[in-house]
Amino acid sequence: MARRAIYPGTFDPLTNGHVDIIARACRLFDEVIVALLINPGKQPLFSVPERIEILNEVLKPRFPQVSIETFSGLLVDFARERQAQAVIRGVRSIKDYEYELPMVLMNRRLHPELETVLLVASEENSYVSSSLMKEVFNLGGSIEGLVPEIVIERMRQKKTQ
Ligand code: PNS
Repeated sequence: MARRAIYPGTFDPLTNGHVDIIARACRLFDEVIVALLINPGKQPLFSVPERIEILNEVLKPRFPQVSIETFSGLLVDFARERQAQAVIRGVRSIKDYEYELPMVLMNRRLHPELETVLLVASEENSYVSSSLMKEVFNLGGSIEGLVPEIVIERMRQKKTQ
């Protein structure tokens, strides 16, 4: 049976930290579903179709075993539907671990067969977060090398719109 994992998130925007975690997940699993959470409560920078387009452009050429999907509702329900064995999350710090642990335990309670695999981000991405990227970019700072080139292009376009 193919080993299938889900990498869930909001990806607003996709960063090189996310790409690094996806590359690591692809070494461990036959199939990796990058699952974009549709969260109507949040006001994102990029719409769902814009984020899907960015994910496709960046990930498709590099990672043949990656598919990109959206989900809403409980992650465990989506994992059951897709018959995934694992959820991937990236951790950069103890703070991330503290944020992830309750989710790991809750997801385990809801779906005991689903394992969460916490992957440690590379050193150079250890401070890269979507919110920090948006803040620095909006205040005129460079985020070159920290997010895919297409993300910078799209952020520039948004600024001039
Ligand atoms: O990139 P993010 O915003 O840190 O991702 C958070 C995400 C999408 C993994 C989390 O919010 C999630 O799984 N949401 C789906 C709803 C759900 O299952 N909630 C209970 C989690 S224990």
